[in-house]
Amino acid sequence: MTRALLLSFSPHGKAAQTFKLARALLRDLVPDAAVTERDYGGQALPPLSREYANALTTPGGLSGSATARSEELIVELEACDLLVICTPVHNFSVPAALKSWIDHVVRIQRSFTVNAQFEKVGLLKDRRTFVLVSSGNARKGHEPDFLTPYMHAILATVGIHTVDFIYLGAMVRGAEAVNRALELAHRQLSEAISSGL
Ligand SMILES: Cc1cc2nc3c(=O)[nH]c(=O)nc-3n(C[C@H](O)[C@H](O)[C@H](O)COP(=O)(O)O)c2cc1C
Repeated sequence: MTRALLLSFSPHGKAAQTFKLARALLRDLVPDAAVTERDYGGQALPPLSREYANALTTPGGLSGSATARSEELIVELEACDLLVICTPVHNFSVPAALKSWIDHVVRIQRSFTVNAQFEKVGLLKDRRTFVLVSSGNARKGHEPDFLTPYMHAILATVGIHTVDFIYLGAMVRGAEAVNRALELAHRQLSEAISSGL
C-alpha cells in the first residue's frame, strides 16, 4: 500500500488549488493509498528557536528537546513513499512556510551528513516526489525561477532525487486561465502517477 504525504505550504492551506488537485488525483488514481495531509501554510510551523539553532551548530548539541519538532517532521517524511509538496511561488522563490519546514527537516547528522570532501550527503531514502507549483505569472520567461533549482538542491541534500515538478501558471489571470492551468496540471500529474509510482 502506498503511503502518501500531502503537504500544503499555501496561505490557503487545504483550499489551495494545488492541494485540491493533488488530493483528488490521489483519490482517483491511488485509491488504496494511506494519505497523511498537513497544512503548514495555513498553520505555520513555529519559528526556529535559539535552542534549535544552537543544537545544530554546536558540537555534541544534537541531543535533547530542542530538536523534538524537527524530529517529528523528519519521522513523518520518512514514513511516506510518495511525497507531494503543494506550494505557491512567493517573490520568485519558496514561501516562508516552506522555508520553515525545510529548516526543520534538513538537519545535520539526521537527514544529511557531510563527507570527507565537505559535500552534503542525504541520509533519507529516495522516494517518488511531486512538487506542485502555483504562480501568478506564466512559468517561462517573465521572471527568475529560484524555486525549482532550490527545491531540487534541498531535496537532494536529504537524499530525495526522484522529483517531478508540475507547474500551474497564470493563476491570477482569471477563471479561464486557472482552468487551463488546472487541466494541464491534471493531465501531467495523472500521466506521471499512472505510469507508476
Ligand atoms: C507574497 C506573495 C508573493 C508572490 N510572488 C509571486 C512571484 O514572485 N511570482 C509569481 O508568479 N507569483 C507570485 N505570487 C502569486 C502567487 O504565486 C499565486 O497567486 C499562486 O497561484 C498562489 O497559490 P496558492 O493559492 O496555492 O497560494 C505571489 C503571491 C504572494 C501572496
